[in-house]
Amino acid sequence: MMTVLPASRIPDPYDAPPLRWGILAPGGIASSMARALQRSSQRILAVGSRTQAHADEFAARFGVERAYGSYEQLVSDPDVDAVYVASPHSAHREQALLAIAAGKHVLVEKAFTRNAAEAREVVAAARAAKVACVEAMWPRFGPRFDIVRQVLDSGALGEIIAVDATHNRQITAEQAPRLHDPERAGGAMLDLGVYPVSFVSFALGTPSRVLAVGNLTPTGVDRTVAAVETGFAGQPGAVATITTTLAAPSAVTASIAGTEGRIELGSSMWFYGPGTVRLVRPDGTAVEAPEEGPSNHDALVYEACHLAQLVADGATESPYMPLDETVSIMETMDEIRRQVGVSFPGER
Ligand SMILES: NC(=O)c1ccc[n+]([C@@H]2O[C@H](COP(=O)([O-])OP(=O)(O)OC[C@H]3O[C@@H](n4cnc5c(N)ncnc54)[C@H](OP(=O)(O)O)[C@@H]3O)[C@@H](O)[C@H]2O)c1
Repeated sequence: MMTVLPASRIPDPYDAPPLRWGILAPGGIASSMARALQRSSQRILAVGSRTQAHADEFAARFGVERAYGSYEQLVSDPDVDAVYVASPHSAHREQALLAIAAGKHVLVEKAFTRNAAEAREVVAAARAAKVACVEAMWPRFGPRFDIVRQVLDSGALGEIIAVDATHNRQITAEQAPRLHDPERAGGAMLDLGVYPVSFVSFALGTPSRVLAVGNLTPTGVDRTVAAVETGFAGQPGAVATITTTLAAPSAVTASIAGTEGRIELGSSMWFYGPGTVRLVRPDGTAVEAPEEGPSNHDALVYEACHLAQLVADGATESPYMPLDETVSIMETMDEIRRQVGVSFPGER
């Protein structure tokens, strides 16, 4: 059994080769990303909004050189190397395709698209254009998940029996209209539940069987979802459970329990943000790796720097968040939404 946890292999993000970024859709998470990138070697060259006024406001706030009043203008800037797509889920497909068609590398916010069919379209376009394309599932790229990755790869947990991940928050329609809006592909699953579903995929792979229950908001998106996943290749005894809701907060934790030990990702914040990794042995003794690197949303820098490193290496897909896995995560969420009874207007 492991006596110490492995060290993270993730390079210092502040040493990554610089890219010239264009931020597409300057909303809440784009502001967090801008703050994170400003502390790094990455350069935010341009921002594109549906309105010139919003682009100008964001550019002034973050000292961005070029502000465009349309997404088309942003992706047409020949000096922009990579585009960060930070719009609502409903728009990711169209805007990722727009950037890819302009020859840009793309970092696409989670959930990657509304559904797996849209994800396949984006992946096919990126592969055909030979541009780098990465789902912005930010925990995959930081030190915390790299420690867990090494523990899983070592087999130190024995046979994996149970994986549990929870993402419960209380987010009202007044606080965040987008999350309650079917037109923008809101709901707990795509916004919050994507983290637990992605965590199960990280720990166990793709389930062949999913059982889901849930209920809806008055606006018709999923308010609360609980799902059980089973049938993982090479892991016949493993069962995963996930819960997510927009209606009540709880600890946002995840664990992987095996016959030889368990990993716990508890946190005062979220299992998917920066934090400690705790390995508990069957006798109850534990070892813990401390949090490292930038904290909270400043850790968004890892995903951008990872994409910058891929580009510098001439690679187009991330080994930490493979595009085929992005598609399979969307397939799992499609199935969960089908069982819970949620579809979005105009969904392809
Ligand atoms: N990684 C994380 O921790 C994290 C956290 C929160 C959100 N996210 C993800 O980031 C994405 C954006 O979320 P957010 O919370 O930043 O959203 P937001 O604050 O509502 O901002 C989204 C921006 O998208 C643009 N937009 C384009 N089409 C739109 C439409 N039909 N309706 C409204 N806005 C539209 C708007 O900018 P313009 O009008 O200026 O173009 C808006 O400011 C989502 O995929 C979400 O899941 C990730």
